[in-house]
Amino acid sequence: HTIYVPRDAAALSVGADETAAAIRAEATKRGIPLRIVRNGSRGMLWLETLVEVETPEGRVAYGPVMAEDVAGLFDAGFLEGADHALAHGLTEKIPYFAKQERLTFARCGIIDPLSVEDYRLHGGFRGLERALAMTPAEIVTEVTESGLRGRGGAGFPTGIKWNTVLNAKADQKYICCNADEGDSGTFADRMIMEGDPFCLIEGMTIAAIAVGATEGYIYIRSEYPHAVATMREAIRLAYDEKWLGDEIHGTGHRFHLDVRVGAGAYICGEETSMLESLEGKRGTVRAKPPLPALEGLFGKPTIVNNVLSLTSVPIILDKGANHYRDFGVGRSRGTLAFQLAGNIKHGGIVEKAFGVTLHELLYEFGGGTITGRPIRAVQAGGPLGAYLPPSLFELPKDYEAFAAVEAMVGHGGIVVFDDSVDMARQARFAMEFCAAESCGKCTPCRIGAVRGVEVMDNIIAGEKVQANITLLNDLCEVMTDGSLCAMGGMTPIPVRSALKHFPEDFTRSPAAVA
Ligand code: NAI
Ligand code: SF4
Repeated sequence: HTIYVPRDAAALSVGADETAAAIRAEATKRGIPLRIVRNGSRGMLWLETLVEVETPEGRVAYGPVMAEDVAGLFDAGFLEGADHALAHGLTEKIPYFAKQERLTFARCGIIDPLSVEDYRLHGGFRGLERALAMTPAEIVTEVTESGLRGRGGAGFPTGIKWNTVLNAKADQKYICCNADEGDSGTFADRMIMEGDPFCLIEGMTIAAIAVGATEGYIYIRSEYPHAVATMREAIRLAYDEKWLGDEIHGTGHRFHLDVRVGAGAYICGEETSMLESLEGKRGTVRAKPPLPALEGLFGKPTIVNNVLSLTSVPIILDKGANHYRDFGVGRSRGTLAFQLAGNIKHGGIVEKAFGVTLHELLYEFGGGTITGRPIRAVQAGGPLGAYLPPSLFELPKDYEAFAAVEAMVGHGGIVVFDDSVDMARQARFAMEFCAAESCGKCTPCRIGAVRGVEVMDNIIAGEKVQANITLLNDLCEVMTDGSLCAMGGMTPIPVRSALKHFPEDFTRSPAAVA
């Protein structure tokens, strides 16, 4: 019998190790030979720990399985895929999973993350093998034609970025993967690093060959110890198997890769701060230009890409640009791993082609709120993203459509709030977050955010509400126009969206009404 028990941090946090140990102990007690594979997560977080049993028909899912459920599952005959109160039938037929379009996450939760053999069996390294037979310019063209845009949030065309680095003349170039995933409610970078680490290694190696880089770093936030450990082990195995090193599969290509761990600053997800931190300095923002593509790590041309951008590359090289760009709408091609979080019944990863609406994500996948109350607002695109009311839920997920309503798709995070939310307090939180996370380099952000919290406190207390709202709008304008980076420059987005879509929350204190 083969049983799958995830080793993903989300599963571990609800007792996956204890569940795995209980399964092993129960099998030993009953004298049943068993193979337990510690896979990544399928991304259906409300079902974790999701235990899967291999049957001739496919993998049958049981969840959420706690250690105390295990004996009962054995009694019910779960090793044969028998029915049980925790059974969900074939995993691939669970509607949440079946309705997705998994390209980047195709292997996540399916394979043993640290088995090179399993990775290869499921199509791994095919993209790299194809890239090894292409010229650098051909690889860059393939990525450009796929329509892939930066999945960290800014949506800049990946192929154009790569082309800038390819054309830069230098004795050394670098590939830096931004795995500082600091957006509230996001976990896709973590999940793929823990569930399919070779995919990131493959994507980075393809990037290196495409632009002529020989060294790379994965900058992982310190809050992700399991991702750090998994990536380090996967890198070691990739060296053993000659997918990394001085002679990649005898082709003469050289690429060395290492992991660096952040120290807990949100701003180190901003690419130039991340480069400072990688160089061993304090993570403060550098002025742009020069772009990192021309003067990045140690002043050399550098690709800085998010985990999801780089993990989308292997399938683009394997199946071709057209296969990838056939998904999506307008100028938003391919898929994005949306992350449902906050007050949502079925939180998790939903990889869908662009064009899916918020409504579909929130209700067809998410199942509404966990509290059972109506959804009043969602914050899309992280803590610097807009708060959106239900009247905008039919909006398709598309970079341009979101920008048109002053919102953003960002890194695909969606945080849900029910009707008990106080949007004035959420606006205050945006300012407070900026005050706490500002790197301090420029005045509009360093001082503006602190003043913003004070103004919000006055509004919430009902003091001179209209005058303070005017002041808040002025402050937002200064921060938008005058900040050096997106931290200060985008903090006004959640504040202004709350003012625009939920004005009643700013004027309802007793003092304001009086
Ligand atoms: P940006 O628009 O300044 O730049 C986007 C990327 O394109 C950068 O890597 C930049 O160096 C590159 N670029 C621009 N012009 C180029 C050219 N001609 N050639 C080559 N490369 C070029 O945006 P920025 O400030 O890098 O990112 C802001 C975004 O970060 C926000 O939209 C937000 O969604 C996202 N974000 C994501 C977080 C996460 O946890 N994933 C956290 C916070 C913000
Ligand atoms: Fe630093 Fe804020 Fe200025 Fe960005 S906007 S450079 S985080 S002070």
